[in-house]
Amino acid sequence: MKENVKGKHPNLDSPYVAYPYKYSFIVDQPQKCQHKPFLVVIVPVAPNEVMERDSIRNTWGNEKLVRERYAMVLFLLGLPSGKNAELQQARIHQENVRHQDMLQSNFIDSSKNATIKMMVMLEWLRDRCPQAHFAVKVDKDILLNIRHLMSMLFSLDIPHQNYLTGQLQNSNSETITLYPLGKCYIMSMDMPAKILMASKEVKPIRKDDVYIGICLELLNIAPVNPPKPEQFVFIPPKLYDRCNISQLIAVVTYTPVQMVSFWNDVHKPGSPC
Ligand SMILES: *[C@@H]1O[C@H](CO)[C@@H](O)[C@H](O)[C@H]1NC(C)=O
Ligand SMILES: *[C@@H]1O[C@H](CO)[C@@H](O)[C@H](O)[C@H]1NC(C)=O
Repeated sequence: MKENVKGKHPNLDSPYVAYPYKYSFIVDQPQKCQHKPFLVVIVPVAPNEVMERDSIRNTWGNEKLVRERYAMVLFLLGLPSGKNAELQQARIHQENVRHQDMLQSNFIDSSKNATIKMMVMLEWLRDRCPQAHFAVKVDKDILLNIRHLMSMLFSLDIPHQNYLTGQLQNSNSETITLYPLGKCYIMSMDMPAKILMASKEVKPIRKDDVYIGICLELLNIAPVNPPKPEQFVFIPPKLYDRCNISQLIAVVTYTPVQMVSFWNDVHKPGSPC
């Protein structure tokens, strides 16, 4: 009220709303977290990326129990658009009936809407999965080694609060902001609510990972390097080395076919090194 007395326009004073908070889930998994996962892995995908989803289901997405702790993998998408939208939507429902591993929100899926996708992901984690210890966002072209990732997170050195890690980058859009590269980042389960809270005061930008960095600055929480940053490889390896790849937590692949072939090779009997 004091501001108004001073003659300021209330609308100019109100924080910029970064994100409308108006989307909801039309395909949801409200019960899944009752299994008390240790780790929830979210893979943003486009509606038509069935092959990408199946490759993950058939490889690393199928590895769910590590030292008695449970990891859960879910795919996140928006609405299909264009000529075949209705048919695609019907297929998405069928695919989800079969696998029960999809989350679909009601905004139009587009790479330009990546920040909306990231924000609805955080909402889902906050609202549906506070029981978990950690969440991971990982791109569809990453071969994720859930075993190594869980071992990293079981370490007593890893905080279960105010924790966000990944391959750290600097952006100097305005000031220098430290942010985790969007390919793969990991956060403790208190972070989704905190980032969402900060986001109410941060102007939206297209780059969803830089946006997280800006929110973290406002929260005064610095993202940190993982214990072994060399285990995160986001430039495709020039030379394929079975021994090397078998030690990584996250490695980018060129195609779903290559992901399956790396996986099969790393898991073939006999020591890889
Ligand atoms: C992003 O989603 C909104 C909400 O569905 C939609 O209005 C907008 O057209 C989408 N953007 C693109 C580039 O598709
Ligand atoms: C694996 O190879 C990448 C380069 O392709 C290298 O940066 C990394 O240090 C190697 N990692 C290990 C665990 O040997």
